[in-house]
Amino acid sequence: MHIKKLIALFILSLSLVNCKEKSVQIIKPQIIPLPDAVELMDSFFSIDESTGITYDDNLKVSALFLKDFIESGSPIHLKEGNDIQFKLDDNLKPEGYVLTVSKEGITIKASTDQGAFYAVQTLRQLMPVSIENGTFSEDEINIQAVTVKDQPQFKYRGMHLDVARHMFSVDFIKKYIDALSMLKMNTFHWHLTDDQGWRIEIKKYPKLQEVSAYRDETLVGHYSDQPHQFDGKRYGGYYTQEEVKEIVQYAKARFVTVIPEIEMPGHAQAAIAAYPELGCTDEPVEVAKKWGVFEEIYCPNQKTFAFLEDVLDEVLELFPSKYIHVGGDEAPKTRWKNCVHCQGLIKKEGLKDEHHLQSYFITKMEAYLNSKGRQIIGWDEILEGGLAPNATVMSWRGTNGAVEAAKSGHNVVMTPTSHCYFDYYQSENEDAPLAIGGFLPLEKVYGFNPIPEELTTEESKYVLGAQGNIWTEYIPTEKHLEYMAFPRMLALSEVVWSKLKHKDYKDFVSRLENFHQRLDALDINYANHLYEIEGDLISDEGKSYYELKTLTEGKSIRYTLDGSEPTINSKVYESKIPITESSTIKAAVFNEEKQLGETFTQHINYHKAVGAKITIDKQPHKAYSGSGAEGLINGISGSDSRYGDKEWLGFWGEDILIEIDLGKEKIVNTIETRFHNGQGQWIYSPKEIKIILDEKEFDYVFWDIGDLLLKKEYEINTKTRYIKLVIPNYGTIPEGKQGAGNKAWTFIDEIIVN
Ligand code: ACM
Ligand code: ZN
Repeated sequence: MHIKKLIALFILSLSLVNCKEKSVQIIKPQIIPLPDAVELMDSFFSIDESTGITYDDNLKVSALFLKDFIESGSPIHLKEGNDIQFKLDDNLKPEGYVLTVSKEGITIKASTDQGAFYAVQTLRQLMPVSIENGTFSEDEINIQAVTVKDQPQFKYRGMHLDVARHMFSVDFIKKYIDALSMLKMNTFHWHLTDDQGWRIEIKKYPKLQEVSAYRDETLVGHYSDQPHQFDGKRYGGYYTQEEVKEIVQYAKARFVTVIPEIEMPGHAQAAIAAYPELGCTDEPVEVAKKWGVFEEIYCPNQKTFAFLEDVLDEVLELFPSKYIHVGGDEAPKTRWKNCVHCQGLIKKEGLKDEHHLQSYFITKMEAYLNSKGRQIIGWDEILEGGLAPNATVMSWRGTNGAVEAAKSGHNVVMTPTSHCYFDYYQSENEDAPLAIGGFLPLEKVYGFNPIPEELTTEESKYVLGAQGNIWTEYIPTEKHLEYMAFPRMLALSEVVWSKLKHKDYKDFVSRLENFHQRLDALDINYANHLYEIEGDLISDEGKSYYELKTLTEGKSIRYTLDGSEPTINSKVYESKIPITESSTIKAAVFNEEKQLGETFTQHINYHKAVGAKITIDKQPHKAYSGSGAEGLINGISGSDSRYGDKEWLGFWGEDILIEIDLGKEKIVNTIETRFHNGQGQWIYSPKEIKIILDEKEFDYVFWDIGDLLLKKEYEINTKTRYIKLVIPNYGTIPEGKQGAGNKAWTFIDEIIVN
């Protein structure tokens, strides 16, 4: 042993004697995703100039990754030697590992290089964060002694990125891959083609580069802001085949498989803009400049199939992945319905309708890819009209697609919008950066269980794992993309890696708070909502109280009720606040010195129905059950712009009947209802509602509105005890709209009775 190490140990043993407290100080590792089993020991290992590394050749990539991590992040150089050992152990699962740090050294055991790589990612989180950015300047790295036995719960642990709506640099894509591999994720789903841009070089079709890769201008603001405005700036670009190869190699060295997505038959407008003969009308179209779903889809003719096979030939050369993603989502059938060729093909092939024509299309492409030794994966619409024989389904419109696919023996990857769409808002703060809509806070991601409850144990084996999706309509920059991805990607990493029974949100939050420093060192921009406050109105035997909560430990909440900003001198929150009138609560999290995070403001409208009895004849959808029916009369309105917070209840395709019992007859002057109308997310306010009181009935008809929120106040001026609201679902989403042909959602929030 090196003399310096001996001295260090001697000093340590002295301190053991002299200063008991310090000697037993064990540094609890704060690893994300949480490993299967961690055992701490009362010692540590120091890496310094004398430390040697040795490895089995089968584990070389990970051993060299560790060597490079240490050498580029600190002044230390590793020698050859047995202090750090990488050993092959065929008894371990393919992605599993055992990491042992003792005062003698470090041992990593795995049956594959990938397993050893994950051991290194764990070890990395036991080292100071300053190594991440090369600012560690000491001559030894002390590592807590520990044994970690670990393996993943799911085989497929993915992150998606849409580069069609906005494009990101090669360096940034590498940084993204770095982050996901650090979190032990193993798949990067690269969404390369869409209506607004074709982003992969295909040498046989130069117009994909010249025409399809660029749009003339881009929508400014939200799609639902009318009238649409554009920035007047040409936008685009594409990845050359050399760049694609470089990224695929880079990912491979981090055990990340890149799955390319070439969208078909829909989301094809950029390709059709360059080659109109691929569409049904042969008429020129432009690369799309705004978001949404477009009518232009590939016509299933000889030219199209030849084109797609040529494209895939080049794609297969670049991507060695077992899976090729063929899209399949959101393909409107209008063009096919009006196309002589398409209708002839339906007859000739004896197909039932256009959905079966889509199935014919996908099955044909599957046969081509299967003949090249590859498998297809597609969005859950590929189930409509019959699933191609060997296809894997990516379930995004909830989990029904997954259940159907798994029950028929097909593999599935879970990406439901409700838990995996990281383009949704993550904060209720109205000044959060503009997003597509929805609300997917960290806790909801963390709470996701990829196995749908409808599946038996046997069927659940078809669930390969889960993936976070990042669609970039509203994400133009790299910093903004990071803000949307982090920390939700960390929560998802634990969803797919860690055992369900070990998951604990509070514990995750405390590890995340610590992980912030590593993200800072890595120059990753993340959303920090850990110091936000959550509030709930609680009604109990006719009395109402307001409860405040925050996630992080060891801090206090201070609040005011007079509308003033809370300060370090404001009242400390200790128990539920009684509410007897309309009030505004302002609160914030403080440490001993200062306010952390932003001020929380909640207006409580203490109207006549607060605390009343309420029933709904249907259960809200389980992904959007908010705080239950009581949330509709708790005096609190949800966000005007997002529908997923706990004040909003979502019902899919169902008519609902709400009954409120005020307890005794009261004079009701007005009733106000709030419906969300995010049509891009298939959410439609009702066309009409009926309000029935003890003795009177009112019918209200609405006109189709463009606004995100349908807020209506009705003049009632009647004495009543019971209030019934009859709310029919909007019905089927009309042609030309996103999700056409599917049932619409109804989202309802506070019913305000005055
Ligand atoms: C999707 O979000 N259109 C798959
Ligand atoms: Zn056609």
